[in-house]
Amino acid sequence: MMTATMMLVSRVRRLGCVLAFCFLALFLWGLPGARALDNGLAMTPTMGWLHWERFMCNVNCQEEPDSCISEKLFLQIAEIMASDGWKDVGYEYLCIDDCWMAPERDSEGRLQADPKRFPGGIRRLANYVHSKGLKLGIYADVGNKTCAGFPGSFGYYDIDAKTFADWGVDLLKFDGCYCDSINHLADGYKHMSLALNRTGRSIVYSCEWPLYMWPIFKPNYTEIREYCNHWRNFADVYDSWQSIRSILDWTTSNQERIVPVAGPGGWNDPDMLVIGNFGLSRDQQITQMALWAIMAAPLLMSNDLRHISLEAKALLQDKDVIAINQDPLGKQGYRLRKEDNFEVWERPLSNLAWAVAMVNLQEIGGPRSYTISVTSLGQGLACNPDCLITQLLPVKRKLGFYEWTSSLKTQINPTGTVLLRLERAS
Ligand code: GAL
Repeated sequence: MMTATMMLVSRVRRLGCVLAFCFLALFLWGLPGARALDNGLAMTPTMGWLHWERFMCNVNCQEEPDSCISEKLFLQIAEIMASDGWKDVGYEYLCIDDCWMAPERDSEGRLQADPKRFPGGIRRLANYVHSKGLKLGIYADVGNKTCAGFPGSFGYYDIDAKTFADWGVDLLKFDGCYCDSINHLADGYKHMSLALNRTGRSIVYSCEWPLYMWPIFKPNYTEIREYCNHWRNFADVYDSWQSIRSILDWTTSNQERIVPVAGPGGWNDPDMLVIGNFGLSRDQQITQMALWAIMAAPLLMSNDLRHISLEAKALLQDKDVIAINQDPLGKQGYRLRKEDNFEVWERPLSNLAWAVAMVNLQEIGGPRSYTISVTSLGQGLACNPDCLITQLLPVKRKLGFYEWTSSLKTQINPTGTVLLRLERAS
């Protein structure tokens, strides 16, 4: 005979299954329909290092030989990526940003590296990077000049694609400065994508196309995904909490538009990880790492790997967090709710697991507690009928078994995040 409690539990379970079915239908309906750029690359978000945020356009090698944009910097970073565990956890692409070029093209119209700062040229640098088991990224611009004023690729797309392929380049970051019309911008991004494909070399194509379109009209992400492996949507990241917040705010305000389009082969790019630099507190660095994992963002660090704290290194090399970022299901997470200056984000993972991040956005006071009913997580599915929860950040801790009707209480530092992984228990 069924007791009243047993009946209640069974009714709650039945309701759970019905809800779960509705959410599943919604969820499948939201699967990205858009075709990805057909180059077989970036099946999970690109991981690596990119010089811009930390080293910018420092060309003064006389006075700052260790931090100017020169082959020395890239040789040293390559060496460290291979020897200090970075490559082992997945950081594979060592990427040059703006300011590597000589001010003029060569006599045959080809781009050339600044001969003083890159005396061995890009091909030799690429060989070295490859010998370390890494890949090399480079930067160019769709318009007449790069953002820092070096030669642009407008009118030279085929030559430049071939030059990069001949050098052994594996990724191109293609910027959108100095482009005189929106048609040139779109045509240029498409042209370069096809030109790269025609070289026959596997070259990840990183675009800034939507970022430059937004001020004029809303980008067509279905089209962008057909041509780019990742695309920047919003302003450059800076080494500050204000910058990280503005990126998260932009992302949540546009999530209906940008989340469904992300998937294997094509990702939204919220810009570089600035963990290990000067501007973010420990909690803010945790927030960046956790949210970039939830957003299925390319993980391109911009920091000085020669001088980085053990704490920042451990965070950037956290295998559990990287596993969320690189989850093969390839679905971008989204903000589920915002209340009382807390945000809850979630991301579906393979094997019916979910990642959940809870952020305390309040910048006054101390740690605050936040309680969430697990029923509301993972579109009603994550803990249905039960789940095992592991806290990954700020420290790894098994939280144990949760039933569908239970609640989870956490303490979150100001501007910090608690990142969880929820797995099916039964
Ligand atoms: C910006 C771009 C940055 C960096 C810079 C180089 O437009 O968004 O990430 O590449 O140009 O000049």
